[in-house]
Amino acid sequence: MGVIFVTGGAGFIGSAFVRLVLDERSGIEIVDLDALTYAGNLENLAGVDGSRHTFIKGDICDRDTVMGAVPEEADAIFNFAAESHVDRSIYSADEFLRTNILGTQVLLDAARAKKVKRFVQVSTDEVMGSLPDDSDEYFTEDSALKPNSPYAASKAAAEFCVRAARKTHGLDTVVTRCGNNYGPRQFPEKLIPLMIANAASDEPLPVYGDGMNVRDWIYVDDHCRGIWLAYERGRSGEIYNIGARNEMHNIDVVRAILDALNKPHSLVKFIEDRPGHDRRYAIDPTRSETELGWNPKVKWEDGLTATIRWYQENQAWVEHVRTGEYREYYKGMYDARLAASEPRS
Ligand code: NAD
Ligand code: TYD
Repeated sequence: MGVIFVTGGAGFIGSAFVRLVLDERSGIEIVDLDALTYAGNLENLAGVDGSRHTFIKGDICDRDTVMGAVPEEADAIFNFAAESHVDRSIYSADEFLRTNILGTQVLLDAARAKKVKRFVQVSTDEVMGSLPDDSDEYFTEDSALKPNSPYAASKAAAEFCVRAARKTHGLDTVVTRCGNNYGPRQFPEKLIPLMIANAASDEPLPVYGDGMNVRDWIYVDDHCRGIWLAYERGRSGEIYNIGARNEMHNIDVVRAILDALNKPHSLVKFIEDRPGHDRRYAIDPTRSETELGWNPKVKWEDGLTATIRWYQENQAWVEHVRTGEYREYYKGMYDARLAASEPRS
């Protein structure tokens, strides 16, 4: 039985990864460290096989906790733990720098101390900044790092720490860079679950700017399969872009949700833009396709239908995560901007 160490396994993507590995790799045991911040939720792990999954509540920045938790000679560390929401990083960057950079360094140090065989850093296309509208430019693994938000800057810095651990200390590392994920259990501060929740309760759908920003959407399980293949088949020191070639304007995503829920487009409210809002993300996943044999399996229409159904069937989950903290966040982020928005078709 092999053992892997997963951080952030109670979050959106980390919990999908834990499920996938337990379902599809019977010889793997998982030790899962998560601080259970506002975005972490043990309900995300409901029903997983407890005989092969050990959950530890703890902070990746806490060196003693991490050293105590990482198993000797583990097969791999998969680092999902992060502060992950761009809007929150604009409001305050401190936690982003702490968790995303310092936390990653603590994990790299633990990987060396515990002789972990491979370190997989789960990164994001956002480290590469923004592409021009309507161009045929794509992010490749050789694109320059040009992060534009404090979140993206912290993830880029984490990548540099990973690179340095390999070059300086010879740690075996792989980095994955994925685009925007969607699927069950995503915290409703992100575009798709926020719009599903608001549409379902006939509240306004706040779209930033002109709604023409482009994101490259991928179903969460496809991302997780790519991470696993990068671990199994990736070359040491390499970066692998993961993307489903599914660029969409935000407004089209929002209207697709309204149509699926049979709600009027008039619920859309265009509000003041996010500062520094990246215009377009678009990933060239050729390296993952050719070297890893990775391909996305879930079509956008099917993934969106499954996601909406999951939120409809899991109202209790939604209510539990929409805590007082969430309501305060929502008020601060949206109330004034919604009040100032002009009606537009
Ligand atoms: P999330 O916010 O849903 O989950 C993050 C998890 O990390 C939570 O469970 C939280 O409790 C935990 N965490 C936060 N700080 C911690 C700390 N100091 N110590 C231990 N645990 C901590 O995020 P997500 O969307 O699941 O993203 C997971 C990873 O994937 C992140 O590294 C993110 O940068 C990356 N990523 C996300 C996307 C996306 O579209 N969501 C795309 C590409 C890459
Ligand atoms: P988000 O889900 O926050 O992901 P990211 O910023 O990492 O891409 O946002 C996706 C897109 O949707 C982004 O262009 C910002 C936009 N957006 C809105 O228009 N309204 C919203 O309320 C949110 C949360 C996002």
